[in-house]
Amino acid sequence: MAYTATGSVDTVAIVGSGTIGASWAAWFLARGYQVRVTDTMAGRDAFVQHYIETAWPALTRLNIPGESELATALKRLSFHGILEDAVVGAQFVQENASEKLETKQSLLAQIDAALPADRIIASSTSGFGATALSQAMAHPQRLVIGHPFNPPHLIPLVEVVGGDNSDPAAVEWALDFYRQAGKHPILIRKEVPGHLANRLQAALWREAVHLVVDGVASVDDVDAAIAYGPGLRWAVMGPHLTFHLGGGEGGMRHFVDHLGPAVESWWSSLGSPHLTPDVKETLVAGVAQATNGRSLQDLAAERDRRLLDLLEALQSSRKPLSQ
Ligand SMILES: NC(=O)c1ccc[n+]([C@@H]2O[C@H](COP(=O)([O-])OP(=O)(O)OC[C@H]3O[C@@H](n4cnc5c(N)ncnc54)[C@H](O)[C@@H]3O)[C@@H](O)[C@H]2O)c1
Repeated sequence: MAYTATGSVDTVAIVGSGTIGASWAAWFLARGYQVRVTDTMAGRDAFVQHYIETAWPALTRLNIPGESELATALKRLSFHGILEDAVVGAQFVQENASEKLETKQSLLAQIDAALPADRIIASSTSGFGATALSQAMAHPQRLVIGHPFNPPHLIPLVEVVGGDNSDPAAVEWALDFYRQAGKHPILIRKEVPGHLANRLQAALWREAVHLVVDGVASVDDVDAAIAYGPGLRWAVMGPHLTFHLGGGEGGMRHFVDHLGPAVESWWSSLGSPHLTPDVKETLVAGVAQATNGRSLQDLAAERDRRLLDLLEALQSSRKPLSQ
């Protein structure tokens, strides 16, 4: 199957426009695409419009190539109560409906039936694989996972994963399209629960919970250990390159020979906590102590401010480290 050329995509359909769909809509609009949004919930059009208006200053500050005038950009946004109306004319569909298998399976079959077979469909799902999601589709080969990180209009990463029925060319297409759309896609070669980045987060959090429960440090200090330590390096390069540099002149070769045995010996002492009621209470109390009465809204605003500062600072140097 020859798919529509990625460079000729000018219209994107956003199916399901909650937290993730609204953010995708803001991103694609800022990048100059026509954006056709649909949702089954009444009032989602107002929600999306408000989301985009709120997100726009950040997109403008990050100097996203495309459109800077909100009023002009909004002319390229349309809402459709009927799914088929939204996907008509779109060369790419990003599905972001509620995380329920049956909902997504029947919705994807409906999208599949309405969209010419040369167009790719990507699902934002955090938890399901394309193999399971495509069960009711007549053309399962054009479904891939395109998993973003919240909020997709700010976080560059998109995890692309195919399923047993996905056409390898569809996976390649999605990687190429997301790159052209200004994201940083990575290829995940096989379906694993939670895809990739959430598994890394889960591994780190498992040990963080263990350290708190074992009394090694407070919630606040465990968080500080990341935010003021390795988290800063991880924002600029991943764990492997960080250790390559940790190996000094010998690089990764020296690191695995010299420090590898010590790290390996720690692996055997990493914890496997369970989220029992007691453990949950310990974490909730630890967070309450660390945040000292500050509201969630206040903390979220500070997170977004810091995130934007970081993204802006890194923007000029954001290119593959192989270059
Ligand atoms: N929230 C996150 O942090 C996050 C991050 C990455 C990926 N995801 C994934 O993105 C998807 C959406 O998550 P969310 O957090 O935006 O959820 P949400 O509940 O905010 O939004 C889901 C939207 O889908 C709509 N919907 C449900 N059935 C529909 C249908 N048949 N047709 C059209 N719209 C329909 C709902 O009305 C709702 O507006 C999920 O698959 C989730 O796993 C979420």
